[in-house]
Amino acid sequence: MAPVSEQTITSDDEPTRRDFIYIASGMLGVVGAAGLAWPFIDQMRPDAAVRAAGQPVDIDVSSIEPGAAIIVTWRGKPYFVRRLTEAEIEAVTALPEDGLKDPAPAEPRIGGPADEAAKDWVVVAANCTHLGCIPKVVDSGADGWHCPCHGSVFDFTGRILHGPAPINLPQPPHVFADDTTLTIGTDTV
Ligand code: FES
Repeated sequence: MAPVSEQTITSDDEPTRRDFIYIASGMLGVVGAAGLAWPFIDQMRPDAAVRAAGQPVDIDVSSIEPGAAIIVTWRGKPYFVRRLTEAEIEAVTALPEDGLKDPAPAEPRIGGPADEAAKDWVVVAANCTHLGCIPKVVDSGADGWHCPCHGSVFDFTGRILHGPAPINLPQPPHVFADDTTLTIGTDTV
């Protein structure tokens, strides 16, 4: 997914009419991004009954290059699936964990196929943990996702760096079934 432009941010903890516009536009962005991702996910789309039941979904990620991402939905919620570049991995692993609002090491948040030495995949919720807006990607070192509503900034593993969001972007259970198939909804093959 191509990076999107940053928007003017103000610090305001109370939701305003403008925030709801941002949230609404964020949801439209999800629809749009999901449309872009459609070629990736449609070929292995589970049937409607499976999706409605919240069963695990398989996603073919073979076409996603380092630095690119898609948004997929599972149980009705959007999730970022991003493949990190080497520079992004170096940037997030260099951040001192102690200084974070919701301290967590970067490495366990980065995954990949079991038989590959390089782990460069991140799967995190695409709703900001403050009020639910959709953060936008800004390619600038460790500062990966910027929320347009109140200025929360998350690194490329979804850890909160700045702003009012109280916790990191949660990660759904997920696992690589093979080198190119990501399964969201379970952590066992
Ligand atoms: Fe408020 Fe993201 S919704 S910072």
